[in-house]
Amino acid sequence: MKINKICCIGAGYVGGPTMSVIAQKCPNIKVTVVDLNKERIDAWNSENYELPVFEPGLENVVKDARGRNLFFSTAVESSIQEADAIFISVNTPTKNYGIGKGQAADLKYIELCARQIAAVSTTNKIVIEKSTLPVRTASTLRNIFDNLGPGVHFDILSNPEFLAEGTAIEDLHAPDRVLIGGDYTTESGREAIAALVEVYNNWVPKEKILTTNVWSSELSKLAANAFLAQRISSINAFSEICEHTGADINEISKAIGTDSRLGSKFLKASVGFGGSCFQKDILNLVYIAKSLGLDSVADYWEQVIILNDHQKDRFALNIVKTLYNTVSGKKIAFLGWAFKKDTNDTRESPAIYVADTLINEQAKIAVYDPKVPSKQVYVDLNYLQSRSIEENKSAVITESNPYSVCNQAHAIAIMTEWDEFKDYDWQKIYEIMLKPAFVFDGRRIIDKEKLTEIGFKVYSIGC
Ligand code: NAD
Ligand code: UDX
Repeated sequence: MKINKICCIGAGYVGGPTMSVIAQKCPNIKVTVVDLNKERIDAWNSENYELPVFEPGLENVVKDARGRNLFFSTAVESSIQEADAIFISVNTPTKNYGIGKGQAADLKYIELCARQIAAVSTTNKIVIEKSTLPVRTASTLRNIFDNLGPGVHFDILSNPEFLAEGTAIEDLHAPDRVLIGGDYTTESGREAIAALVEVYNNWVPKEKILTTNVWSSELSKLAANAFLAQRISSINAFSEICEHTGADINEISKAIGTDSRLGSKFLKASVGFGGSCFQKDILNLVYIAKSLGLDSVADYWEQVIILNDHQKDRFALNIVKTLYNTVSGKKIAFLGWAFKKDTNDTRESPAIYVADTLINEQAKIAVYDPKVPSKQVYVDLNYLQSRSIEENKSAVITESNPYSVCNQAHAIAIMTEWDEFKDYDWQKIYEIMLKPAFVFDGRRIIDKEKLTEIGFKVYSIGC
């Protein structure tokens, strides 16, 4: 079994960059990324590389491979038909209706893909779960293929993606590991695993390609995200103790991170974690545990989310409290809207929730983010359905210049750790703000001493 043609269903933050790198590193494999969203596909094909995903280094990868062996298309059926291997990389959001609402993963897009693969395939396929899925989803796919399959054979693999946004290309070029789960008990299962290992082995050393059974692979992805998010909630829990005791969370991160058993990464206190994965995947884990009757396990992991919500809330409430218990009519400048630096993604960004709380208190929010388009800010707030579209429009303005955002503001809230924020002319910003000029640093990126010297009243997470 050899993979010569790949189809990836889903041209989003995972499908796009992942397949671009596979195409770049495997010039002999034809890679077609398909999506129902024509606007997204057009952007992937745009002549001036206005790609739908902002990732450092991505444009160069796409330049290397697009039109050579990398294609973006809306022709889902024909791409499935011609492929030997099909990656399913569609979204698996938290269910917002019915059973499991607010917790379970919504697998309707996954099922649609499986049905479509079954409907149009005329040759044997390796079907690869790239999306993050509840453990045992492969058995659902198997069931669909067995019942609808057109007499061709499907091998199902799990190959979860561990890239983080903002560093996706680095992560894909030099992954800590690649994980492939498959069915070792059958000859074709073993061959399918070997075929996918061969693809990655074009640039990833063999010892970094782990193979497991399908269920371990599916569950490892949820476990990895749960552990990572748990570290952030743990450090954020300590950040609150620091604020009451004179300890400094940065010093604590360093002190504990030098213990080789703990490691230094992912110990940065913040206004809370965001992004499309952590919350969704932990909620899904909680749902799975509850479904298995494992209530104590479910409660344990749910606490990671509870603490994260608390961190966002207390940041917003501290702004209200510090501004003399009222922000009504006051301009609060938001520096950053993305959920982390170096991405244009805003899904579950803490900025959205902090803004929502402040708008409830009748604040006027002014937003500047170097990569997030203005309309996305309104889409994010409207999605919460806390108030009417018109009310959000009148409560929020966006600017393409950080100094305009800060002009005549009562306070600045640093919501994303964009590097450029550190280099601003803070003296100038002080001069154009109302006094006292408050800065709430949700990311610990600015020099508190320097800003205090200028005259700012500075609040930093965890000290
Ligand atoms: P996304 O929303 O950016 O992209 C998904 C794409 O799939 C969308 O463009 C959508 O139009 C398309 N799609 C949905 N159903 C389709 C269908 N039937 N046919 C064709 N196209 C279809 O999502 P994403 O961030 O790329 O995440 C995809 C999966 O990867 C999720 O399960 C997520 O949990 C997982 N994941 C995400 C990240 C990340 O950093 N974003 C990292 C690791 C894993
Ligand atoms: C995460 C996982 O890291 C990645 O392996 C998985 O494939 C997808 O989910 P991502 O959400 O893209 O990646 O970014 P990540 O770097 O994990 O950051 C998530 C959130 O946690 C961001 O809001 C970030 O600002 C925050 N964070 C991260 C902290 O607050 N402190 C930290 O120390 C690290």
